[in-house]
Amino acid sequence: MIIHTVVFRFRPDAPADAADALLAELRTFPGRYPQMRDFSLGPNVSTRDSTFTHAFSVRFDTAADLHAYLQSDSHERFVRERWRPIVEQHHIVSYETGGRAGRPRGPYGMEYARIEVPDMARTIEFLQYHVGLQLEQRTDEYAYLRADIEHHSIELISAPERTAGHTSAVGYSVESDEVLADLRKRVADAGHEILELQDRQRGFCSDGFGVRDPNGLIVELFTGFLEYAEPPLAELRPVDLVHPFIATPKYEESLDFYTNVLGFLSSDEIVGSTTFLRCEDRYHHSLALQNNKEHYVAHLCFAMKSFDHVMRARARALYKGEPIASDLVNHSASTSIAFYMHDPAYGPRFELCDRHRVFTPEEHETHRPRRMPPDPRNIDVWRPAADDWGRF
Ligand SMILES: [Fe+2]
Repeated sequence: MIIHTVVFRFRPDAPADAADALLAELRTFPGRYPQMRDFSLGPNVSTRDSTFTHAFSVRFDTAADLHAYLQSDSHERFVRERWRPIVEQHHIVSYETGGRAGRPRGPYGMEYARIEVPDMARTIEFLQYHVGLQLEQRTDEYAYLRADIEHHSIELISAPERTAGHTSAVGYSVESDEVLADLRKRVADAGHEILELQDRQRGFCSDGFGVRDPNGLIVELFTGFLEYAEPPLAELRPVDLVHPFIATPKYEESLDFYTNVLGFLSSDEIVGSTTFLRCEDRYHHSLALQNNKEHYVAHLCFAMKSFDHVMRARARALYKGEPIASDLVNHSASTSIAFYMHDPAYGPRFELCDRHRVFTPEEHETHRPRRMPPDPRNIDVWRPAADDWGRF
């Protein structure tokens, strides 16, 4: 990314209306040169150096974009006919920032999963007591449960014909209308069908659409997700739904879809096995893809308030004999400590974790994903040896 800055001073005898006209014309530049981003212009307010009266600054994704602007006929004419006659002196600095601010934006973060379950009453009981969610709405057909202020983090659909729970959709919020429009365009340009949001979901957000990932899982993207004024009063509850972990036989195709179309960024990779992808909320991963013979949503991860709360939830699971599918692990990728519960009747495994890494804004733009060999110690740093694959 290039930041291009120009500082300048008008001639003392420049007519005021000509100077104003020049400033007004500069302000039309972002509309005339579509490669320009974040244009700003203003008078010099420095108390240290008043050599120049004004400055403007603009960002280009590439040096080629900057040169295309500078060498355009319209720019040459502007400099010759309007700039030089009234500008006495100027300096120009264009510098490379090394960031990826010109990259396409991804979704902001995960908000919910939609799970079809054979026994809604039992699943609700499990999610309330063992995961700590609060039931907000329930009919014979569906139920909504929330973790924090966001409208819901789990939507249950009654599916008595199923023998096991099945995750049919995941929902991600998007930070602005502009990013949502860009995502919609990228999805359509890549040849994917744009789906209407599910009817009820349309009422819970400002705007959005759905798309099927290469495995058929519906991904819903939206702005303006409804939120409550306060989180649930329950003490033992998650603070956020962080990610789904998706097993897929279409690993490369799925990676391409989530990174190149939806704009997720790779945080780390267990080579050939698993890739951890992050969104704009900067959690280490808001989605994980695993190379697998079958497609299924393997787990959903909730972040708890503290490690103490993870252990309290674990104590409840032990007390009630709820199956712990994978006991305490220390994840190398996200630095989180977690355990997993699993009863297929409720859908995926439920991972309760603490200290899932959140990148700083700078790390988010500059992080290079680690490429780690498939070794249990690269998944759980508490594993003592390279052959300790049991207990996952
Ligand atoms: Fe996870």
